Amino acid sequence: MIHKIGLIGFGTVGRGITEILRDKKDYLKERYGFEYKIVAVADFAYGNVYNEDGLDMDLLLKQAENKEKFTRDLVSLSTLELIAQSNVTTWCELTYTDLETGGPAVEHVRTALRAGKNIVTSNKGPAALYYDEMMALAKTHNARFLIEGTVMAGTPTLNLADGPLAGNTIRKAYGILNGTTNYMLSEMEKGMAYEEVLAKAQKLGYAEADPTGDVEGYDARAKVTILANIVMGAGIRISDVSVEGITKITPGDIAEAQKQNKRWKLIGSVELKDDGSIEAYVKPMMIDLSHPLAGVMGATNALTFSTDLVQDVTIVGPGAGKIETGFSILTDLLRIHKGY
Ligand SMILES: NC(=O)c1ccc[n+]([C@@H]2O[C@H](COP(=O)([O-])OP(=O)(O)OC[C@H]3O[C@@H](n4cnc5c(N)ncnc54)[C@H](OP(=O)(O)O)[C@@H]3O)[C@@H](O)[C@H]2O)c1
Repeated sequence: MIHKIGLIGFGTVGRGITEILRDKKDYLKERYGFEYKIVAVADFAYGNVYNEDGLDMDLLLKQAENKEKFTRDLVSLSTLELIAQSNVTTWCELTYTDLETGGPAVEHVRTALRAGKNIVTSNKGPAALYYDEMMALAKTHNARFLIEGTVMAGTPTLNLADGPLAGNTIRKAYGILNGTTNYMLSEMEKGMAYEEVLAKAQKLGYAEADPTGDVEGYDARAKVTILANIVMGAGIRISDVSVEGITKITPGDIAEAQKQNKRWKLIGSVELKDDGSIEAYVKPMMIDLSHPLAGVMGATNALTFSTDLVQDVTIVGPGAGKIETGFSILTDLLRIHKGY
């Protein structure tokens, strides 16, 4: 089968997966028998393009890098029309995350699933707010809804729990789920105040102009919700996860932690308690320097799964990046290909 791939959103991640699919075409065919074409791209900035025989990946990338609008294979279909009417078999939803409403992504995902097309996405909106609905739609229409990239980008997380760790009961998942705040806390240990570190993080592109989603813990809260519902089947809502960010951490707090041989980390955690209830939170915590999470510095992410059969399993890796997040999309495309 030749997979027909469509991309909604051609920003950082959209271009990352396109580069991977362009550069690894021969390898993916030889190693996994994975053959594909990108047949459609829908993007606010560059336009909607469609060619059922395959688009020119080089040209798309070149035009987007030059901030030029697409010129070849343009169509007048709206994005929702393109999603439903094209020959795409798997849509990658890669528009911006909106954790209030789910944003346009929710309607993109609904439309694709209703048309029996698979969805692969790194967008936390539909996954954190509407997971049950999306899974039910996928089941009804014999499609897949795969979201590996929503937590820790391409570092294997959800697929690890569902794949190699399957058979374990995972009672707790906790870790550093936001790279921006981990970078900021790491820098504060060098003696800089919160405002100074935030300005530096913004200059380096780690923090957005409006850093609220990261520093108030909302991004990590969405990831905790996704972990709770997927890894533990908890059936919780995003509002069930208590949240406190890092904005109140002072140089005095940093010094106090150092005095106690500890280190501040913004921890996202979900735990299945003995009475069957779920405890889920995001909050800054002082972690013992001997703990595996304490050594994770900079923009890196880390997560520990507490399991019944192999004890604690900790994964450490990137939580963002063009190619790193692009890889999360590839990993789910390969899952679909393997009929996992
Ligand atoms: N970048 C990462 O490292 C990373 C890591 C993990 C998860 N994610 C998630 O992955 C998703 C994509 O991230 P990104 O970094 O690639 O974002 P991005 O660079 O901002 O790209 C998003 C693209 O989608 C376009 N777009 C916005 N609304 C659209 C709509 N309704 N229809 C079609 N296109 C639309 C944007 O156009 P305009 O610019 O004109 O609005 C932009 O070109 C986000 O949900 C993000 O949270 C990203």
